[in-house]
Amino acid sequence: MSTLRIIHANILTPKGRKALHGKAMNELHHIPDGEITIVDGTIDYVGHVRENIDITAIDAQGRVVLPGFVDSHTHLVFGGFRPEEFMWRMRGDSYMSIMERGGGIVNTMKSTREASTEQLVEKTRHFIDIMSRMGVTTVEAKSGYGLDREAELKQLRVMAEINDDPERKVDIATTYLGAHALPPEYDGRHDEYIDFIIREMLPEVKKQNLAENCDIFCERGVFTVEQSRRLLKAAADMGYGIKIHADEIVTTGGAELSAELNALSADHLLHASDEGIKAMAHSDVVATLLPLTAFTLREPYAHGREMIDSGCAVALATDLNPGSCCSGSIPLTFALACIYMNLSVEEAITALTLNGAAAIGRAEYIGSLEPGKLGDLVMLDSDTHYTLPYYTGMNSVIMTVKRGRIVSY
Ligand code: NIG
Ligand code: FE
Repeated sequence: MSTLRIIHANILTPKGRKALHGKAMNELHHIPDGEITIVDGTIDYVGHVRENIDITAIDAQGRVVLPGFVDSHTHLVFGGFRPEEFMWRMRGDSYMSIMERGGGIVNTMKSTREASTEQLVEKTRHFIDIMSRMGVTTVEAKSGYGLDREAELKQLRVMAEINDDPERKVDIATTYLGAHALPPEYDGRHDEYIDFIIREMLPEVKKQNLAENCDIFCERGVFTVEQSRRLLKAAADMGYGIKIHADEIVTTGGAELSAELNALSADHLLHASDEGIKAMAHSDVVATLLPLTAFTLREPYAHGREMIDSGCAVALATDLNPGSCCSGSIPLTFALACIYMNLSVEEAITALTLNGAAAIGRAEYIGSLEPGKLGDLVMLDSDTHYTLPYYTGMNSVIMTVKRGRIVSY
């Protein structure tokens, strides 16, 4: 039996096994001088420090302890990098204009098709090490840079290989995003590519048990709302959780579609309509905001404050990818959410823990510090959680615990 006990911790956590909506996002449970004990990877006790217990303990000396962060939207597995596109954008080109002239996702597709599984595993582990030091204990990762049968399955197998490692620092939640862009082989034949995904890829990925969730890039010039509805309905029928890149560059009605289909999440939402926000507020969809992407694309931030005030469940994630946002920075995500989206620090914590867990269908067993949930937590180098945005872009996490094991210190 393995036990990890932390005492004299300033414990803060959202509570529950579902996403928190609206005002509830601000209400963290607080135990100022607390204990948390994890037995065999699962939280066994959270509460006041128990006397007369003979288990060696780590003394947190009043430091903040939070649930491990859940980064619920990344494109973690990819070949190559695209720094030249970043430089073109600094010069004034738009993300979409670069994509239209053959850069963007299809550029990374080529390097991902060329990369070996071993190369991809090594690169992914490198990012995971960095993320773990910033407190991430679960990360969602999407395929979507293979865009053909073999390379999509290769990306998903990289995730499976990392998840098979008992010493892993994070759990990867797997998402099949074949509909990330139109592969050149299907030039001008969007509907046929969607048919191929529905008929061949979704059943194959399911059969090999390689992805829990299915996502699509619903955007002008990529896939339409109608194509997204068709694909996501088919995926839901096959038992996938469904997610959607919605209203990122222009308003398409992706937010409304997510509510109609009862998706796990709608992501980006920089240009979500008022009706879309209302529809999400009245559904279980988690509105997943990616402020690092708005920052790096010089786009206006999603209306996080308004979404919470309207009763939405909001999550925050990094969107780490080689194109629009080559950053997995949790500290900067906190800072941008608080400074530019006017989230309170408490709301931002809920967004990066319990609501992030709900956005990948895992709120039952991660996202809060409660008995029965996985022993995933972070300790800050501070007695206040305000350091999360206040140390702007700097890491305040000093210890990350994954399933009861100290994985970064
Ligand atoms: O979430 N918007 C679509 N997909 C990614 C960008 C992927 C890329 O540029 O490689 C995103 O921003
Ligand atoms: Fe994305």
